[in-house]
Amino acid sequence: MNAAVRAAVRCGTGHGLEMVGIRRGFAGLIEGDLLPLDNRAVGGIIERGGTFLGSARSAVFLTEEGQGKALATIKKWSLDGLVVIGGNGSLKGAKWLQGQGVPVVGIPASIDNDIYGTAMAIGVDTALNTVMESLDRIRDTAVSHDRTFVVEVMGRSSGYIALMGGLAGGAELVLVPEVPLSLEQVAAQVEEGLRKGKHHSIIVVAEGFTPEGVTPNPPPAIERMSAGRTLSVFLEESGRIETRLTILGHLQRGGSPSAFDRILASRLGDAAVRLLADGTAGVMTALIGQKVATLSLAEIDHPSGNFDPEIYRLVCEIAN
Ligand code: F6P
Repeated sequence: MNAAVRAAVRCGTGHGLEMVGIRRGFAGLIEGDLLPLDNRAVGGIIERGGTFLGSARSAVFLTEEGQGKALATIKKWSLDGLVVIGGNGSLKGAKWLQGQGVPVVGIPASIDNDIYGTAMAIGVDTALNTVMESLDRIRDTAVSHDRTFVVEVMGRSSGYIALMGGLAGGAELVLVPEVPLSLEQVAAQVEEGLRKGKHHSIIVVAEGFTPEGVTPNPPPAIERMSAGRTLSVFLEESGRIETRLTILGHLQRGGSPSAFDRILASRLGDAAVRLLADGTAGVMTALIGQKVATLSLAEIDHPSGNFDPEIYRLVCEIAN
């Protein structure tokens, strides 16, 4: 996100605009936690992961009181327009603000890549490279010990990271919410690989995968057994397959952004401010093909459509 903020600020100052950063997303907007930003303030951040402004999921913004405070901050600071960078929750908030008459342009940013209308969101490529590098490392020990590794990746309800990261990392099996499978079917596929002479395997499982026939464990988190743990326990306890588990977790959300992400973020940050400067609002910037495009924020509730069954077929076909 830093690359997007950097480009937005420098595009804005280039258009003679006063630029202001809002700390911690909607939480900072509600609390009035803003700071003026100039070109120097966004120097030396393009290579840094995360966002120097901070980010937060704000339940308060879902309340009328919080929404009223957010609008009051916008009025107090005389903000003429807002760039909102984030995932589906942030962009839904952007859509609401637009409905309140605040000119807003959204920038899609979520490693899940589950945002409608854009082929890629900011952060996805960097996360995929982290998953791929992790799978390469795990394969070294899997091969050495003839073991099966279950690697759980992020993707609250999307299998995109698991699918594309699994393809890039040469996974033998990818388990995603979009394709139902039972634990028994998974074990059978691993055993099929063993019969074919493959004595190690890597199963990439999206955290949102729920094996068929297994009701999703209820929260709270301490009891909730993750998708990866459910699977690795089943495989290990069946006595059939020596299994180890690695949960990549928030490793996928940090690190220096890839070239692709820095370029995408710079393009979308610049486009968002140019749109506002030209009087266009109520839209989200998007990557369609190689081009930066826009779509109405009204459309963001649609499913993303970024999970490609053709890629899933490819992964299955070339896995062993
Ligand atoms: O939405 C992006 C994401 O990284 C999901 O993949 C993951 O399930 C979730 O955020 C984790 O949220 P938090 O950082 O609040 O635990």
